[in-house]
Amino acid sequence: MPGLTLGDTVPDLEVETTHGKMKVHEYIDDAWVILFSHPGDFTPVCTTELGMMAVYADKFAEKGVKLLGLSCDDLHSHLQWIKDIEAYNNGHKVKYPIIADPKRELIWQLNMLDPDEKDPQGNPVPSRTLHILGPDKKIKLSFLYPASTGRNLDEVLRVVDSVQKAAKYKYKVATPANWKPGHPVVISPSVSNEEAKHMFPQGYKSTDLPSKKDYLRFTNVD
Ligand code: BEZ
Repeated sequence: MPGLTLGDTVPDLEVETTHGKMKVHEYIDDAWVILFSHPGDFTPVCTTELGMMAVYADKFAEKGVKLLGLSCDDLHSHLQWIKDIEAYNNGHKVKYPIIADPKRELIWQLNMLDPDEKDPQGNPVPSRTLHILGPDKKIKLSFLYPASTGRNLDEVLRVVDSVQKAAKYKYKVATPANWKPGHPVVISPSVSNEEAKHMFPQGYKSTDLPSKKDYLRFTNVD
């Protein structure tokens, strides 16, 4: 499915992983899933990223999020590489499955290609794509990083909190710049002041702006 983007349902592909064969939708079940791709096994940035995912796995699990990696090498290679990842990351076990895609079929279907990076054989490699999938199997958020930029796992955790917050409040709230859990959220422009009074009995605070338009409204929600 070229052009897979926000709101799309992730294809229910049958995939080979380090935990056996699985269908992507069955793996998601009714959880949240982070599906993240990597340019290749035994590469430096990827080794740090998959290791950091192992370090953060419990924090994601606390938020009801399961992990699913993808790298374009075969299972044998993944299993050897995992030993390096764990050794580099002080023995943190890689407990999440990693999809094998040696024929590069899935990365085309999942729109995870990096046009600028090629492997030694000249084949395109995956970008560092990261999709946060909701329990409805739809893409709620995507990161699209080039092979040369490793992701920040604190930012991934932060955006999981943001998309879960928005979903919990039926997209009537959103999180402002640099928001962190515990900070006030903003009320969506689709919510009138009248609705906001009912929806947020705890109250909300409007920001006085030169335009006098009452659109920057903050409230506190759990
Ligand atoms: C890496 O994981 O370090 C990497 C992979 C492909 C291109 C550049 C960096």
